Amino acid sequence: MPAYAIIGGQWGDEGKGKVVDFLSGEADIVARFNGGNNAGHTVITDLGEFKFHSIPVGILRPSTTCIIGNGVVVNPDAFLEEIYSLQARSVDVSRLCISDRAHVIMPYHTMLDRLEEGIRAEGGGALGTTGMGIGPAYMDKAARTGIRMVDLLDEKALLTRLSFVLEQKNALITKLYVGEPLSLDETYEKCRVWGRELKDYIKPVEPILQEALAAGKRIILEGAQGAMLDIDHGTYPYVTSSSSTVGGACTGLGISPKHIKEIAGVYKAYTTRVGTGPLPTELNDEIGDFIRKRAWEYGTTTGRPRRCGWFDAVAARYSVDINGITSAVITRLDVLDGISPIRVCVAYRLNGEIINRFPTNASTLEACEPVYEDLPGWEKPTASARNIADLPQEAVNYVERLEQLMGCSIDVISTGPGRDEAIIVRSMF
Ligand code: GDP
Ligand code: IMO
Ligand code: MG
Repeated sequence: MPAYAIIGGQWGDEGKGKVVDFLSGEADIVARFNGGNNAGHTVITDLGEFKFHSIPVGILRPSTTCIIGNGVVVNPDAFLEEIYSLQARSVDVSRLCISDRAHVIMPYHTMLDRLEEGIRAEGGGALGTTGMGIGPAYMDKAARTGIRMVDLLDEKALLTRLSFVLEQKNALITKLYVGEPLSLDETYEKCRVWGRELKDYIKPVEPILQEALAAGKRIILEGAQGAMLDIDHGTYPYVTSSSSTVGGACTGLGISPKHIKEIAGVYKAYTTRVGTGPLPTELNDEIGDFIRKRAWEYGTTTGRPRRCGWFDAVAARYSVDINGITSAVITRLDVLDGISPIRVCVAYRLNGEIINRFPTNASTLEACEPVYEDLPGWEKPTASARNIADLPQEAVNYVERLEQLMGCSIDVISTGPGRDEAIIVRSMF
C-alpha cells in the first residue's frame, strides 16, 4: 500500500539524494516524479560518490525497481550518458524504466533555454536557469506540442509531428533570436536513434506502480528541486517549470494521494539557492563564504557557487504547510559546527511591519528584511553523530527550535554526507 514522498523543503540541494538513498535500502520501488537533468542528487556509498541527474538514486540498491515518471522531462543523450557511467561502475540498470508519457527534452529546447536566458540577461532579468532546456520542454508539454517517449517508438508518426513542430521552432529560432535553424533530417535521425536505444526502458509505468501498491510494496517518490522552486508555489518567476511540491508526485506518476503515507520534507540546517531570485537570509559576508567553502556549496549540475544564508523558518513553515509535511529531515547540521551564534529568521520586517506569512510576490520578498533570533552554537562536533545523545546540548536546542518554528517534527538529522551518517529519531517505515 504505502508510498513515501521525499520533497525538497527549500530552494533545492537540501540533500534529497542522500535521504532517498538511505531509505531506498528498504524500498521496492524508487520513482522520480518531476524535473529533469537540472537536478543533481549526490549519494556517497562505499563505492564512492555518485551524482544523479535523471535516474532515481534507488538504482544503487540491487533489488529496487526505478521509475522515471511522466512528470519528468528527459534528455535522452544525458540519460544515456548517465546509464553508461553507472554501467562503467558496475551498477545494474536493468531495473530502470521510463514512462512512455514522459516528455523528451529536444535539441531545440536546450537551444531555446539558452537563447531566452540570453535575452532575459540583456534586459537585466535573467532567471539563472540551468540551461538544460527544462522550461522550454515543459512549455511544449503545456502547449501540446511536446514529443513524448512513446512518440520515439513510432517513427512514421514522429516524422509528421516533428515536421510540424520543428517548423514552428525554427521560425522562433531564426526570426526572434536570429539563430541557426535545426535540420529536420538530423533531428529526426537523432530521435530514431534515441527510440532504438531507449525502447527497452520505455513503458507504461502506471500498471507497475498500481500492482506494487496493491501488493503492499513500499514506494519512494523522489522529488527534485524544492518547494520554493515550484512553478505554482515558489518564488515565481524565479522558479523551475515543474511541480516540485507533493501534488507533483501524484500527477507526475499517476498515483492517488490516498496512497501517500508520509510526506518527508528535506531541509538544510541553513539555506542555499543557486541562480537568481530573492533569498532574504542571504549572507554576503565571511560567514556565507565560510559555509560555502566548508560545505562545498557549488551546484551539482552546473558547478555554480550556491548562495548561502541562515535558516529561514518563515519559508520553511510555508513549505511544511503547502506540502503537508509529516516528517522533516534536517541535513548538514555538521556544517554549523563551531559557528556561534547561529541565526534563524523567525519573521520578516516589511516597511516597518512584522510579517509571518511568506509573500507571493518576488519583489515583496526582495523587500523583506529577516528578523533574527540568535541561538548559541556548539564547540563539540556533530559530524557523523548517530544518536541524539552524541549531540551537544546547543545542537539539540537548535533542532528543537527549528521544529517549533516549522510546526513539524524533525525525525531525521543528517550529520554527514555518508549513507549512515544520520540520527533517526523516528523511523518513517
Ligand atoms: P539534492 O539535490 O537535494 O540531492 O542535494 P545535492 O546532492 O545537490 O547537495 C547536497 C550536498 O550535501 C551533497 O554534496 C551531499 O553529499 C551533501 N550532504 C547531504 N547530507 C549531508 C550532511 O548531513 N552533512 C554534510 N556535510 N553533507 C551532506
Ligand atoms: P535538485 O533536484 C537547486 C534552479 C536553477 C534556477 C531555477 C530554474 O538538485 O535540488 P531550470 O533550469 O530548472 O529552469 O532553472 O531553478 N534549479 C535548482 N536549484 N537544485 C536543483 O535541483 C535545481 N533545479 C533547478 O538554478 O535558479
Ligand atoms: Mg542538487
